[in-house]
Amino acid sequence: MKTVLAYSGGLDTSICIKWLQENYNTDVITLTLELGQQVDLKGIEEKAKKLGAIKTYSIDAREEFVDNYLNPAIKANALYEGKYPISTALSRPLIGKWLVEIAGREKADAVAHGSTGKGNDQVRFELAVRALNSKLRIIAPAREWDLTRDRAIRYAEQHGIPIGSKSQYSIDENLWGRSIEAGPLEDPMKKPEEEVFGWTNAPEKAPDKPDKIEIEFNKGIPVGLNKGKIGGVELIQGLNEIGGRHGIGRIDMIEDRLVGIKSREIYECPAAIILLEAHRELERLILTREENLFKENIDRKWAQLVYFGQWYEPLKDDLDAFIDKTQEGVTGKVVMELYKGNARVIGRSSPNSLYDLGLATYDKGDKFDHKLAEGFIRLWGLPSEIAGRRKRKE
Ligand code: ARG
Repeated sequence: MKTVLAYSGGLDTSICIKWLQENYNTDVITLTLELGQQVDLKGIEEKAKKLGAIKTYSIDAREEFVDNYLNPAIKANALYEGKYPISTALSRPLIGKWLVEIAGREKADAVAHGSTGKGNDQVRFELAVRALNSKLRIIAPAREWDLTRDRAIRYAEQHGIPIGSKSQYSIDENLWGRSIEAGPLEDPMKKPEEEVFGWTNAPEKAPDKPDKIEIEFNKGIPVGLNKGKIGGVELIQGLNEIGGRHGIGRIDMIEDRLVGIKSREIYECPAAIILLEAHRELERLILTREENLFKENIDRKWAQLVYFGQWYEPLKDDLDAFIDKTQEGVTGKVVMELYKGNARVIGRSSPNSLYDLGLATYDKGDKFDHKLAEGFIRLWGLPSEIAGRRKRKE
């Protein structure tokens, strides 16, 4: 038997290598994707080999992640429950896709992941794998085994697996953000210790002088920074850095998981928060009122589908078609000021702007015919007026 394991190099997935060999008598091939989590891929491959993996893959999938996952999320202004930029959620279908790809190349019988039975990630991995190849067997050692931290450490000690400096937190990182769970964070009333944060300064420790940046969008996708063209990976890395310095993108929330559990989540997503805010503001300038208001519903649904693991649900494709159509004119520039935890839009322009100074101004250039408003308001309010009379029995 041959199994391809999604391998991060951390303690839990390292244990999975041994556990799969022992419990399924299977050869293990590891797959590690570089998604911007700043890891030593060579070191991870060596570690996997030492633990007995018969073959190791590491793949730099950052561009694919930006082009096919993060850019669509920007176009969809994707926030789960209005707050979480679904950074972990977006990476899972891509990892699932690569598991299936490598399983095919290696003629493997199964794929495996290190997620537990309580979270969203198991759902996301498995829905993606099943949608792409329903014949592959899926093994989830941490779930089957009910893996707890104590058990993991005991098993690691027994099998000579390096434990490293495993922190009390569970951390997941990629270009779109850093997710931190567990340990002291499980008390929803307790303020996170500063040690929780790895990418961002505390706002009060951020520079006293704001930084001004200009982001250029083409059809809904960010393509330029400060008047220069820039690739997506580089742009996002750059914004994580400068945004992190200014303390932007710290999120502390109670989140409703798919499995029904409420959990306390901390995120650091500087680039995501900056780009989503910029993009949304540009849309406000360009889309009509009807488009803006309607798209909010579509955007919310898009983020929910992705959060719930339904990347391959056909409805998501349908929503993508709608969203792409709306983005045809979303081209222009947004100027922002980054300061003490905030990314504030201070300017926006577009060749497709619907902003009309002659209509908007309160100054002498006013071209708006004020008399039109009077009759309009009478008709607009007519239903309520009639209902009011009925209520008062007039
Ligand atoms: N709750 C988030 C989500 O479902 C983040 C999960 C992060 N995973 C982790 N191992 N910390 O998308």
